[in-house]
Amino acid sequence: MSNKTMTKEEYLNKVKEIDTTKEAPKVLEDTDFLTIAKERRSVRQYDPDYKIERKEIEELLETATLAPSSSNLQSWRFLVIDEQEEKERLLPIANNQQQIVDASAVIAVLGDKKAYKNADQIYSQIAEKGNMPEDVKDMYVNSIFDNYGNFPEERLAKIAHIDGGIVAMQLMLAAKAKGYDTVPMGGYDEEQFLKAFNVPEEYTSVMLISLGKGVKAGFQKTRLPLDNVVKWNRYE
Ligand SMILES: Cc1cc2nc3c(=O)[nH]c(=O)nc-3n(C[C@H](O)[C@H](O)[C@H](O)COP(=O)(O)O)c2cc1C
Repeated sequence: MSNKTMTKEEYLNKVKEIDTTKEAPKVLEDTDFLTIAKERRSVRQYDPDYKIERKEIEELLETATLAPSSSNLQSWRFLVIDEQEEKERLLPIANNQQQIVDASAVIAVLGDKKAYKNADQIYSQIAEKGNMPEDVKDMYVNSIFDNYGNFPEERLAKIAHIDGGIVAMQLMLAAKAKGYDTVPMGGYDEEQFLKAFNVPEEYTSVMLISLGKGVKAGFQKTRLPLDNVVKWNRYE
């Protein structure tokens, strides 16, 4: 193996040059879960003229937010960047990855480290539905404040990242089921991003997701054999 390296920007953009995939992303007739999971790929080339309506993005987000979260506190927050000038502003912060400007929207998945403060609203909804007695709801909310309110910031950030990762995956699968493509991105300067887009201080940045109409499918999936990643019951 050669010991040559490249900058992060070169590395992130090289993938488009070396990808020899010829076909466009599959438009799926069959949208059952297993087909969607098998056919989703990270797509980095998009039709820059294709605009997904905000209504449709909202529908995708509605589906995504059916995902589970720690104590159902739904710490995810989304900044949907669909204006071209704003995408242009994000481009250099995200290593000049072309999909930032070509996709219909970039969805920044954020996590609210103070999401526990919404516990009363969330559990009142559950109680109103008749799924939890009022006194149990009060106890629940009090203990959430007791627990989460005393967690160190790193723990709250970790929870926000876990919730954010789960909701991001659900969003990408929902997009594929609706005939759209995505690529998750961690290749951006978080500090610069938070500052440039006035993200509230209590939010952490989980990832960016380009969402649009793909024109090239992207690498076909390869994965390590299960043997490399799975053990049963305990490690020796
Ligand atoms: C947390 C995370 C960060 C990623 N960051 C980038 C990125 O900045 N740019 C990019 O082109 N792809 C990025 N990817 C996409 C991966 O390269 C891709 O998921 C992986 O190669 C597997 O390919 P597949 O998504 O087509 O199955 C990222 C994926 C994840 C999960």
